[in-house]
Amino acid sequence: MHTPHPAPLAIAAPVPLRGTVTVPGDKSISHRSLMLGSIAVGETRIQGLLEGEDVLATATAMRAMGATIERDADGLWRVNGVGVGGLLQPAGALEMGNSGTSTRLLIGLVASHPITATFTGDASLSARPMGRVIDPLSRMGADFTASPGGRLPLMVRGICPAVPITYELPVASAQVKSAVLLAGLNAPGITRVIERVPTRDHSERMLRGFGAELTVEDGVISIAGEAELTAQDIVVPGDPSSAAFWMVAASIVPGSDIVIRNVGLNPTRAGLVTALRLMGADITEQDARTVGGEPVADLRVRHAALTGIEVPPELAPSMIDEYPVLFVAATFAAGRTVARGAEELRVKESDRIAVMAAALTAAGAAITEHPDGLTIEGRGGDPLPGGVRIASSLDHRIAMSMGVASMRATRPIEIDDAAPIATSYPDFIATAAALGAEPTWLDR
Ligand code: S3P
Repeated sequence: MHTPHPAPLAIAAPVPLRGTVTVPGDKSISHRSLMLGSIAVGETRIQGLLEGEDVLATATAMRAMGATIERDADGLWRVNGVGVGGLLQPAGALEMGNSGTSTRLLIGLVASHPITATFTGDASLSARPMGRVIDPLSRMGADFTASPGGRLPLMVRGICPAVPITYELPVASAQVKSAVLLAGLNAPGITRVIERVPTRDHSERMLRGFGAELTVEDGVISIAGEAELTAQDIVVPGDPSSAAFWMVAASIVPGSDIVIRNVGLNPTRAGLVTALRLMGADITEQDARTVGGEPVADLRVRHAALTGIEVPPELAPSMIDEYPVLFVAATFAAGRTVARGAEELRVKESDRIAVMAAALTAAGAAITEHPDGLTIEGRGGDPLPGGVRIASSLDHRIAMSMGVASMRATRPIEIDDAAPIATSYPDFIATAAALGAEPTWLDR
């Protein structure tokens, strides 16, 4: 799905970052709105959908299974669903590109329909573990033929009726939780997921919004199957995981003062704001409001002298996608930052612990790698020496995080391939320029 050739990039910040940015729609919520719209009865209308490659992969797959999905010229998306139980046999393989969320949630949906689907993906996605969804969904009766190690390409033969189960999550994963809940939607009876550590709850909120009978009590999420979902009008709030790059960029580039509009601040997603504030970041919330059932605010972020911290491990699930850019913030803080308890980072779009350790070390940072995180000796605000080309490893968040690091480097930090940024934030580079940074495309 990425452009066939790598696109090397560097971003300098010769002046303070100034201005107002609006971040694109939340990726997790965008996927879920297309999926639930596709199995609801009637027309779901979605405003603010993230039009990144990952979400478009979900749209293509839902169309292949019978939903009608159209985009109006003004950016409104219309989804006409097939009803729960109504997904059709796709004619060919479902190409998931780089998107783990599309893959794991759709495997869940297919598992309780009487259809067979094959999932394929790019090199990054094909290296990621699918056993975590194969295990519970096999217990519900679905049948899997996966590549060695429980990876893609993978074929799932769904079953109808599926067996409702009670499943305790062995890893803190919203994708696994959601896969089981989505399978449970078309299983007779109550499906339960036990979640000891809370993870993002967008599926639960949206399932309720579409009319599913779903309750949450003491970490037990119960969903009644053979549900009828009714089409909804959805407004997707801005993605805190995309806002994260500007929060850190403004914090580390001296003199910066920006406003980030429309940032989703669901407590299961807002851990980075807490961590940055512990480091001394200057972040104020303005105009707190509710958008599409989710808390949202505008954030004013000003440059601040950051201090290293022990990152509370209990924040991990609420900032799991933000660790790469938190590592960048820690690089410029005064003193040591220790971030442990985040071993899940090793099975994201890349091994984010190893890849960030390598990239920051190459750029001149002092890093110690642990099995479950990093220790970073901060530079007290001094720029990184830079003068290197680092590997983004097919990982959008590595590319953007190192793009932020390159804004505070004496010589450029070149990102070998910025193409993966299009999976989640197609406007990232234009937004950097709008804030006063200078992105430069480089020769391969
Ligand atoms: C997501 C859940 C998280 C996160 C991913 C999106 C979701 O993954 O890292 O970017 O939308 O449910 P895990 O479920 O693997 O923690």
